[in-house]
Amino acid sequence: MKIKVIHGPNLNMLGVREVNLYGPMKLEDINKNMEVVAKQNGFDIEFYQSNHEGDIVDAIQESLNEGVDGIIINPAALTHYSIAVRDAIAAVNLPTIEVHLTNISRREEFRHKSLISPVVAGTITGFGPFSYHLGLIAMMQILNEIKMAKEAKEK
Ligand code: DQA
Repeated sequence: MKIKVIHGPNLNMLGVREVNLYGPMKLEDINKNMEVVAKQNGFDIEFYQSNHEGDIVDAIQESLNEGVDGIIINPAALTHYSIAVRDAIAAVNLPTIEVHLTNISRREEFRHKSLISPVVAGTITGFGPFSYHLGLIAMMQILNEIKMAKEAKEK
């Protein structure tokens, strides 16, 4: 089973960007850690980052042709205003988990609203890079449950 991880605008700058908020860890190290855990559990995983809204929409849509079973997404700033990203997630209708490094509810008021949360299975926010790990654990659980339900039906 394949998981696609999508990172939104400015997340390529982790480790450099507002380290007081987002921490010192680089995106490639977050990805490497997720890759180890996914592989250990028998899942394929791929990663995508873009600073462009349309490219994020394309990456979500392309999941359908790539055999992707579930999406983990940190939409970054797009969380708070992108109806296009929200609609793409709803359109592909794959199990999706939203993650944030920071607790968006504790930050500026404009970050309190997520347009993405209503179309995802769940949201993990506020645990730094560990949010991605928790998102991965949750996604593997969801996909294992789907697999077991399918197998039970085939019996
Ligand atoms: C973020 C929170 C967003 O509000 C912000 O625009 C980001 C990162 C997070 O991971 O905490 O770029 O998604």
